[in-house]
Amino acid sequence: ATKAAQEAFATAANLDQLAEAKSAHLGDKAPLSLARREIGSLPGKAKASAGKNVNIARTAVSEAFEERKEVLTAQEAARILREETVDVTARLGGKRAGARHPINAKIDAIADYFLSLGFEVADGPEVDLEWFAFDALNIHPDHPARTMMDTFHIADSNGNAGSGLVMRPHTSTVQIHTMLERKNPPIYTVAPGRVYRTDEVDSTHSPVFHQTEGLVVDEGITIANLRGTLSHWARAMFGEDAEVRFRPSYFPFTEPSMEVDLWFTAHKDGPRWIEWGGCGMVNPRVLAACGIDPEKYSGFAFGMGVDRALMLSHDITDLRDIIDGDIRFPLGLRVEE
Ligand code: PHE
Repeated sequence: ATKAAQEAFATAANLDQLAEAKSAHLGDKAPLSLARREIGSLPGKAKASAGKNVNIARTAVSEAFEERKEVLTAQEAARILREETVDVTARLGGKRAGARHPINAKIDAIADYFLSLGFEVADGPEVDLEWFAFDALNIHPDHPARTMMDTFHIADSNGNAGSGLVMRPHTSTVQIHTMLERKNPPIYTVAPGRVYRTDEVDSTHSPVFHQTEGLVVDEGITIANLRGTLSHWARAMFGEDAEVRFRPSYFPFTEPSMEVDLWFTAHKDGPRWIEWGGCGMVNPRVLAACGIDPEKYSGFAFGMGVDRALMLSHDITDLRDIIDGDIRFPLGLRVEE
């Protein structure tokens, strides 16, 4: 029985087989256990020597078991180490860090700037009723400005013209949404966002681009407030030596209306005036259309290009880089400011 047990332990290939062998040779029904139980029924002298023999055998078998157990446990530990190794130098494919699109980072920086002045940041739909894009802004159906805008019109469910919906050609729609929602001045808002026009794509034109609309309506607002706001913003965004200049212009929703140029000194080809956007004093007719008393209140509005500002401050020469979606583009820029 001792031999058989030692043999069984020595040939156990793993800890499971060893456990099986243990219950067969050291368990309750093992020959050695049965023999020990029978010792009690032996006569005096035989009892003592049988007891001694059984104990010797049991010790030998137990030692054989412990010995094998030690070997198999070490083998098992080595196997686990080998099979579950983590190679910390292995290259992981396909995982890349993301980056914010520079336009979104720029828009956030603009919003932060105006929030710091106490403005609210407003938002409006990109598909909007023509009424918000034109009529409420004092652009009548037969007004040439309506076609000047090169607007994308949305077809109705039969594919015909006349749904009354457009892709907003400027963020000025948000002026109207804001005034109708808020009703009572004081109103100090900016609304950065996407706009759409039927322009062919080239290095300076795109059918989708971005504007920041500004709208202030309060008692006693003058053109000096408009100029001061734009100058301060220009310096915050383009550096202390930035300046703005106004050129007379025309928009149906402002009176008077101006184009805004920016004196940009960090240009790689030297300081120069750059077109930045349009602005003016809110036309009293627009205030009235929104239920605001033009006798009591006045206001200013502006609509500034965002893409152009980003191109200037980061030496981007091709507008298409902004809309292409090539992920190498944002990774090469530091826009957070
Ligand atoms: N909406 C005008 C444009 O897209 C810009 C503008 C905004 C002009 C606000 C005056 C006031 O050209």
